[in-house]
Amino acid sequence: MKIDVKPDWWKTLFDDVYLVTDARSVCDDDITRREVDAVCKLLPMAKGHTILDLCGGQGRHSLELAKRGYGHCTVLDYSHVLLEHGRSNALKAGLPVDFVHGDAADSGLQDQTYDHVLILGNSLGYMPESVDDLRIMQEVMRVLKPGGHVLIDVTDGVVVREKFNPNAWHEIDDRIIVCRQRQLEEDYIRAREVVICKEQGLMRDQTYAIRIFLPEVLEALVGKAGFVEIAMQRGFSAHEKEGDYGFMNHRLLVTARRPE
Ligand SMILES: C[S@@+](CC[C@H](N)C(=O)[O-])C[C@H]1O[C@@H](n2cnc3c(N)ncnc32)[C@H](O)[C@@H]1O
Repeated sequence: MKIDVKPDWWKTLFDDVYLVTDARSVCDDDITRREVDAVCKLLPMAKGHTILDLCGGQGRHSLELAKRGYGHCTVLDYSHVLLEHGRSNALKAGLPVDFVHGDAADSGLQDQTYDHVLILGNSLGYMPESVDDLRIMQEVMRVLKPGGHVLIDVTDGVVVREKFNPNAWHEIDDRIIVCRQRQLEEDYIRAREVVICKEQGLMRDQTYAIRIFLPEVLEALVGKAGFVEIAMQRGFSAHEKEGDYGFMNHRLLVTARRPE
């Protein structure tokens, strides 16, 4: 039976349970540091640059960048829960990161404001129509300064297809188990995630769907939005061991520039 997914699933999935189920990837400081190392290597970043961490969740990359002296980072995300975590972490650490609520496709941010826009941690391809990905890339173009750079980090669609795993489960600790059922459909993965706590019972039973990008498809999307100097890097993983980490290992990193 086809997994039924609501088109706006992404508006509710990213909550406190997500921080538990995806902790192996998004709450591990070593992984975040390795990802930020890759960002700093791929983009011509300078300390005074303005950086937008689009769909930045709890702002783990911006917090790490701020620790490294990049003092003008803004996180935009739709999840109030994650933004609140980010604000509180920034306050505790005394780091200057701004957290803004908004939709990446219509951010409300000012034109030509950022030197760099980052879309990290597989945060593109959540809406059912690929034209919505284009709307997000056009929004990135609008908010970038002329000559500014974008970096997109998504799971590599070629590897997802090769290693597709329809059923996966992992234990968070000795209480919580995460089970995922997946269906692969052309360039789309539908998934059902069931999270069970041995003491409390069912914590989550929710479905979602993510577009997977073949390198040439992502390159075409970025080009269609008007970017130039599009470069791809395949094979990046911040995880040290092989394993089923949802969609977070075997990544495709794309950089591009807004024309002057
Ligand atoms: C897998 S999480 C990754 C978060 C962060 N980039 C990281 O690597 O930790 C995806 C994030 O994208 C956000 N998101 C997805 N679609 C969005 C949209 N249209 N506008 C704003 N945020 C969005 C979600 O709320 C979620 O926080």
